[in-house]
Formats: sequence, C-alpha cells, structure tokens
Amino acid sequence: MSETPVLDNCPAPVKRLRKRRLLLAALIVVVLALSLPVSNLFIPHQSGTALARFAAGDSQRLEVVSLLERNCLDCHARETKLPFYARLPIAGSLIERDRADGLKYMDMFEELATMEGQPVSEVALAKLEYVVESGTMPPTRYTIMHWDRWLSDAEKDTILTWIRSVRKAHYATGNAAKEFETDPLQPLPTEVKVDPQKVALGNKLFHDVRLSGDNTLSCTSCHALDKGGTDQARTSTGIRGQIGPINAPTVYNAVFNFKQFWDGRAEDLQDQAAGPVANPIEMGANWDEVVEKLRQDTALVEEFKALYPDGITQTTICNAIAEFEATLVTPNSRFDQYLMGKADALTAEELEGLKLFRENGCATCHTGRALGGQSFELMGRRADYFADRGNLTDADNGRFSVTQREQDRFRFKVPTLRNVALTFPYFHDGSQETLEQAVRSMAKYQTRRPFTDQEVEKVVKFLHTLTGEYQGKPLQ
Ligand code: HEC
Ligand code: HEC
Ligand code: HEC
Repeated sequence: MSETPVLDNCPAPVKRLRKRRLLLAALIVVVLALSLPVSNLFIPHQSGTALARFAAGDSQRLEVVSLLERNCLDCHARETKLPFYARLPIAGSLIERDRADGLKYMDMFEELATMEGQPVSEVALAKLEYVVESGTMPPTRYTIMHWDRWLSDAEKDTILTWIRSVRKAHYATGNAAKEFETDPLQPLPTEVKVDPQKVALGNKLFHDVRLSGDNTLSCTSCHALDKGGTDQARTSTGIRGQIGPINAPTVYNAVFNFKQFWDGRAEDLQDQAAGPVANPIEMGANWDEVVEKLRQDTALVEEFKALYPDGITQTTICNAIAEFEATLVTPNSRFDQYLMGKADALTAEELEGLKLFRENGCATCHTGRALGGQSFELMGRRADYFADRGNLTDADNGRFSVTQREQDRFRFKVPTLRNVALTFPYFHDGSQETLEQAVRSMAKYQTRRPFTDQEVEKVVKFLHTLTGEYQGKPLQ
C-alpha cells in the first residue's frame, strides 16, 4: 500500500509553494464569484422610458416607477435586458424560472401602464404594498447578485406613501374610520346614485319571465335575491332543464366589478344583461322576439315611453335592468361597521381571521370595497389546480376565451367575497361545496403556504362577517 504524501513530510519550500497555490485557487474562486454581481453594477439599468411615459406630469408616480424599473423589471416585464451570464446553463435556467414566476404574479407593464389620467388598479396597489411591507421583493437570491437593487427604508416609504395617496384619491369610499382611510379593504358605500323610476322598471324586468324563450325563466331564476344573489347550485340550469357549464356569480355588488362574467367578456352591467337572454342554454330567447312580446304590453309601453324616448328596445331593457342592479348593494355588514370605527363589531376570533386574511395576501386579490372584482388572476399560482381537479372544459380557459393570449389561460375575474357565506358552492366550476373547502384551497393554490384547520376556521369566521343588508334587512 503506497503512502500518499502528506504536507508534513515535505520539505519546507514545497510546503510553502502548495500553500500559495491553495491561496491562489481560493482567490480565483472568490474573484470569479464576485465578478458576476460586480459586473451587474456596470450593466445599465432598464432604460426607464417605457413605464415612465405613463407617469408623465406626476412626479410622485415617476419616482416610484423609476424605483420599480431599477429593482423589479428584470423579473416582472416580458421584455428585459438580461446580464451576459443569463446565457450560461445553470444561471440561465434559474433566471428563467424566476422571470416566469415573477411574470405569472405580476406583469408590471400590464399593471402599471395605465391609460392617460387613469390611476393604477387597486389590485396592483395592494400587491405592491403587500410585498414592500413584508420585505419579500426583490427576492434575497436576487439581491445577493445585484447589490444595488434592494429597497432602502426611504425607498419603501416613497412607494408606500404613493400607494396610499392614490388609494385615497381614487378608491376610498370615504366612510371609513380614520385608521382605515387608506386601507386596501374599504366599507361599502351606503348610498347609490340612481334614477328611482328606472330602478323600479328594471326591478320588474329582472323578475320578468317574458325575457326567456319559453316564458319560464327570469333573471331571478339563477340570481335569487334571497339566495345571496345566486342559485346556490354548482352550475346553473337554463331553459328546458339544460345544465350550464359554469357557476352563477352573485348579482349583489356586481356593480363594483371592473368587468362582468368570470372571463370579463362584458364591460358593464348593461352590456352583460344582453347575454343571458340570448344565450341558448340560459334564457334561450331572441332579442327581437322579446322586444315584440313586451311591446304587446300597453302598460309597459307607457312606462318605457315616460323614461326613454326610444321606448322598448334591447338597449333600454338592458339599461333599466342595469340601473336596478346598481341598487343591489349590501352595506352595513359587521365588517363594514368595524371599518367605520365600531371596534367591537368583530369578535377576537374574527379579528384573528382578518389578520390571517391580510398576512397571507388574500386581501391583495380580494381587495377594495367588494373584496374582489378588480382583476383577472391565475387560478393555481402556487400549485396546479386544474391538474389536480382534472376534466378540463372550455369554461376553465377563463380570460383566455376573450383575449386568446396564452398568458390569460386559467385567469378568472376574482369573485367578490361580500355575502360569501350565502353564495355557495364556490369557484367558477362550483367545485367547493363549503366555505371551509374554498378557503383551504385558496391557501393551497394561491398563497405562500397552506392553512392549518384552526386557521381555516378563523378565516371562515371572518368571512361570515361580510354578510350585509339589502334594503335595510340582513341577507340570509
Ligand atoms: C429575481 C426576480 C425578481 C425580482 C427582481 C423581483 N421579483 Fe417580484 N416576484 C418574483 C417571483 C419569483 C415571484 C413569485 C412569488 C414569490 O416568490 O413570492 C414574485 C412575486 C411578486 C409579487 C406578487 C406577490 C404576491 O404574493 O402577490 C409582487 C407584487 C412583486 N413580486 C413585486 C416586486 C417588486 C415591487 C419588485 C422590486 C422591488 C420585485 N418584485 C422584484 C421575482 C422577482
Ligand atoms: C340560467 C341561469 C341564468 C339566468 C337566467 C341569468 N343568469 Fe346571470 N349568470 C349566470 C351564470 C352561469 C353567470 C356566469 C357566466 C359566465 O361568467 O360565463 C352569470 C353572470 C351574471 C352576471 C355577472 C356577475 C359577475 O360577477 O361577473 C350578472 C351581472 C348577471 N349574470 C345578471 C343577470 C341578469 C340581469 C339576468 C337576466 C337578464 C341573468 N343574469 C340571467 C346564470 C344566469
Ligand atoms: C392571486 C389572487 C388570489 C389570492 C391571493 C386569493 N384569491 Fe381567493 N380567489 C381568487 C380567484 C381567481 C378565485 C376564483 C377561482 C375560481 O373560480 O376558479 C377566488 C375564489 C375565492 C373564494 C370563492 C368565492 C366564490 O364566490 O366562488 C373564496 C372564499 C376565496 N377566494 C378566499 C380567499 C382566501 C381566504 C384567500 C387567502 C388565503 C384568497 N382567496 C387568496 C383569487 C385569489
């Protein structure tokens, strides 16, 4: 057995030489390791014009946008200039994964590049606030490589101050207590501006079976006002007993949705109302026939004439229905009372549920006065919901059906959580029978970590405080 030479048996000069070689090797490793982050210091940042264009004339927004361009766009924009080592095998695939994930969660161009004079959306504000407050962005593995890209306390402050000022100017309902004035969650307004005569007409039409092909269904058949504005069925049943492909969302507070339908294919309530009437598996009618039918009703003809010069038309019918739906607002839930300053409106457990709801990012998507209805979000951010559920249908495509853009597949309009205790079963596919199931799935598929049973229970208790009043009476 041959002895392997050990350092101790060597003459002194050889020992020194070996030590020096080791030192040199270590130095090379250190220099190589540092060269990448150091090189990043010399790579020019995002050019800063694309997003900045949308902040023209608004110095506060411009400052924030510049910060985001410098620190965030590497992973939150589709087009970006990557460092040279993004072409190396391991680094490249890590960077690609981060970029794909980052884009899935937030495409800053889509969310921050608004039309002129339009504020950034409530959801984008809530998401930014959430990561800035929790200090999770940019990710640590990124700042290790990019020494100049973390957010200082002053920079965080700049971003948060801007978020709150936009919120106050554009989204606050104005009836929250001082401490909740700029909270992402807002109380519902207690008054709505409508034309009472059109509302009365719309109310009748909403309940009118003549809007269906065989005079059997009205809007209330699937949106019963005593069932939380839904049919409480997995998916809806249309005329001649046809089973529809998708769950009926509530009409209560739908007026606050930024678009209508799960995939947002209708711009507003008036636009939406035309849909179900002509849908062959919903009301299965034809608009010309419906208008003809209603024109036989002389009293109704008079009523329309008094309000609309055009009399009974598809447009005026939908307009009156939309006006009625604008009154389907359910204020004064216990949660609203709490936001309006009644500190004891919620129990200790409900408050813990609210805290979990905020800390786990639920309030970033379920945000604003309706706790939802303001964005299309990927169902299954954290885990693949559709692979777990199986049996894909066209209804699962979500926003993709409207835009045909791959990045919109499986994105749905976030449902409102107002009166959610009454709007079972849940999700677009009606797959979750109970609120417990829905909350557990949300934690698993949408947020950073799954909930324990106790956590699910607390969040469910909180969600029960969102049941409000319609015409002064609590919904049940
Ligand atoms: C190295 C890539 C990278 C950089 C740089 C980066 N992000 Fe992210 N971001 C991600 C990834 C990956 C996710 C996915 C979720 C996670 O890891 O928490 C994400 C998620 C997010 C989300 C969604 C969080 C949620 O739970 O809804 C927001 C908002 C966000 N990032 C904002 C920022 C901001 C603001 C910056 C700059 C200050 C930034 N990101 C910089 C990769 C990045
Ligand atoms: C046969 C059952 C059925 C009838 C009848 C029906 N709806 Fe719906 N409604 C649905 C379903 C299902 C959806 C969801 C469809 C989708 O998103 O693709 C929906 C969606 C809606 C939405 C969108 C809510 C949201 O959050 O996006 C509104 C508003 C609405 N209906 C109002 C009406 C009105 C007004 C009428 C009467 C003109 C009506 N519905 C008749 C089943 C019905
Ligand atoms: C990334 C955005 C996002 C986050 C974060 C999120 N949700 Fe959701 N939530 C959605 C979307 C989208 C749906 C509709 C999913 C579907 O229909 O397939 C939904 C549906 C729900 C529903 C069912 C409502 C209904 O009427 O069908 C409940 C309840 C719910 N979420 C609660 C929560 C809770 C609790 C959390 C935090 C643990 C949470 N959500 C986090 C986007 C989000």
